[in-house]
Amino acid sequence: MSQILVITASPRGERSVSRALTTNFAYEWAKFHPKDKILLRDIGHHPVPHVTEPWVVGAFAPPDAQTDESRAAIAVSDQLLAEFLAADRFVFGVPMYNFNIPSTFKAYIDQIVRAGKTFAVGPNGYEGLVKDKKALFITTSGGSYPHGSPMEVYNFQEPYLRTIFGFIGLTDIKFVGADSMNQGDDAAKLSREKAENSLKELAANW
Ligand SMILES: Cc1cc2nc3c(=O)[nH]c(=O)nc-3n(C[C@H](O)[C@H](O)[C@H](O)COP(=O)(O)O)c2cc1C
Repeated sequence: MSQILVITASPRGERSVSRALTTNFAYEWAKFHPKDKILLRDIGHHPVPHVTEPWVVGAFAPPDAQTDESRAAIAVSDQLLAEFLAADRFVFGVPMYNFNIPSTFKAYIDQIVRAGKTFAVGPNGYEGLVKDKKALFITTSGGSYPHGSPMEVYNFQEPYLRTIFGFIGLTDIKFVGADSMNQGDDAAKLSREKAENSLKELAANW
């Protein structure tokens, strides 16, 4: 039995393409892996807090410098981290906002990327601590940013996600993207169907 953490980051409900693709994938996955435990965290509708000064105290200051506020702030991060570290696989549904990820997803990343928990600083530099796990990113965007095209440089979404999750040790990463969502009905339909087909295959074999 594996534990799958599914995170949806779009603030949209039924109109959201990333949410639909991600939750459909979770249903398909459950069909093929009925014993797996799937946990859904909807940060699009229920955002996690941003890092605050008490949070920084909670994460970095010695025990005698802690306050009720810092303990409460870091308790949220500890809970998110426990949930994150308990998972064997991750499925993230992430729209592109302003060529990057939505701030809700960045706030989540800020809560779970923590020294001594998800990465370590050792004699050889940084070391990711989230090892032997897999992540699937289901991304959406209004435009399209093909590799090798002049538009590629605008895409900070995929490179950033690869970098930050690679930094904490998650290197077995797959991307399935539905791009061109705002480039006319035909282009959007074609792109979405292509993503749906890739995800169907991955639900059976990932
Ligand atoms: C605030 C905002 C910013 C966006 N920025 C971009 C962008 O920089 N590039 C792009 O291709 N699409 C952009 N889009 C379009 C979304 O990525 C697209 O509509 C996508 O389908 C949203 O994901 P969702 O359907 O899961 O909500 C933006 C949409 C919103 C609402």
